[in-house]
Amino acid sequence: MSFFVVQKSEPLKGSVKISGAKNAVLPILCACLLTDEECFVENVPQLSDVFVLIDILKKIGAKAEYNILSESIKIKAENISKDISEEHEAVKLRASFLVMGPLIARTGSARIPLPGGCPIGSRPVDLHLKGFEKLGAKIKQEHGFTEAKGTLKGNHIYLDFPSVGATENIIMAASLAEGETVIENAAVEPEIIDLINFINKMGGNVFSLGNGTIKITGVKKLHGTRHKVIPDRIEAGTFMAAAAVTGGDITIENAVFPHIKPAAAKLEECGIKVENLYNGIRVSYAGKRKAFNIKTMPFPGFPTDMQAVFMSVMALAKGTSIVTETIFENRFLQIDEMKRMGADIKTEGRVAVVEGVKKLTGSRVNAPDLRAGAALVIAALAAEGQTEIGNIYHIERGYSRLDEKLRKLGAKIEKTEERDIENPPQTLL
Ligand code: UD1
Repeated sequence: MSFFVVQKSEPLKGSVKISGAKNAVLPILCACLLTDEECFVENVPQLSDVFVLIDILKKIGAKAEYNILSESIKIKAENISKDISEEHEAVKLRASFLVMGPLIARTGSARIPLPGGCPIGSRPVDLHLKGFEKLGAKIKQEHGFTEAKGTLKGNHIYLDFPSVGATENIIMAASLAEGETVIENAAVEPEIIDLINFINKMGGNVFSLGNGTIKITGVKKLHGTRHKVIPDRIEAGTFMAAAAVTGGDITIENAVFPHIKPAAAKLEECGIKVENLYNGIRVSYAGKRKAFNIKTMPFPGFPTDMQAVFMSVMALAKGTSIVTETIFENRFLQIDEMKRMGADIKTEGRVAVVEGVKKLTGSRVNAPDLRAGAALVIAALAAEGQTEIGNIYHIERGYSRLDEKLRKLGAKIEKTEERDIENPPQTLL
């Protein structure tokens, strides 16, 4: 069991390079199943979610070689099976369900366990299944497994909600289906555009037509390709929040400004300066932090994945901030832990009211999920004294070397195997 031990840090300074986007790389690795030729993917972050998915792809029969130094992977899915067995790791990872679309498209059938429950909400897969059915697949769900069979044919699909995963799964399935598919009310997150670019490099025919409409013309065969995954906008947003709470001045190299616009707009309301540079963005403290409100929405709205880390900024901003979470029903898990650190937050259903406090205080807390865990790290950087954060395996699902990157900016954070608040790691003293 590992912990982060964090001391109140000086204003962060310097520059940081963010890793490849977790939410882009996971569907892209699944899309490698669409061809029997070799794909080479660069900027693949060292994350536990990525390693679990690579393991799943290997169990399906793909040959995969990850190079940790270059953070790149070669995948060749020449001979693949249609099944993932129940005992497999797949049940732990929501993104495992993204192998379904490529498997039916490539082999005409797939049988995989339903992905595991998640603390942030119930996360059903009905929209994925509705899409597969529209493409002609017969779906059966029993004993915790989903089975899909059929030869896929293009169709018109309207999604009740612009689900990221359902859009990705349907795009992948439709890429090898006969004829044309149009998805209306599709999600158009930057990670989906990256998946579309990847499939098109494989010889696919996928276009985002604007207004949440995506058109896919199926092709008979896709081929191997080379692709570099986009930088992680959620990681960029997390460093923006870190600069804001410590009163720092940092450059986030390789952040893509149009991807982080919703976050930049909110920090500017808060009084933090965000500049679009030719090689990334600069985030600097302008001497005050004012309350601001956020409402999570599908892209280009404010991302639900940045909601928790921005709440840490609100906790120390002057005045009352309001957060409305519209995407997931249970995504305020950071709040009880932040209250232990002195935050003043009340919730009513999907709304949280944050009264800014003058200071937070170090405490023993536990990461309840990935983004809530990151929010605790951000709050801890500004909290008086020492904070110990447990269950950091949640954080490591989605952040590659977060402690190391923060240390380079001057943060006092160490990863330790022992929970010993009386004797902090020497490097923090
Ligand atoms: C993806 C991201 C996750 C992000 C989320 C929303 C990955 C690996 N994960 O998750 O980090 O927080 O998008 O931006 O990319 N829903 C249904 N039926 C479905 C599918 C979804 O009702 O079949 C609902 C969900 O319960 C949720 C909402 O739609 O309330 C959004 O889910 P979705 O966009 O599908 O998120 P994920 O793809 O799971």
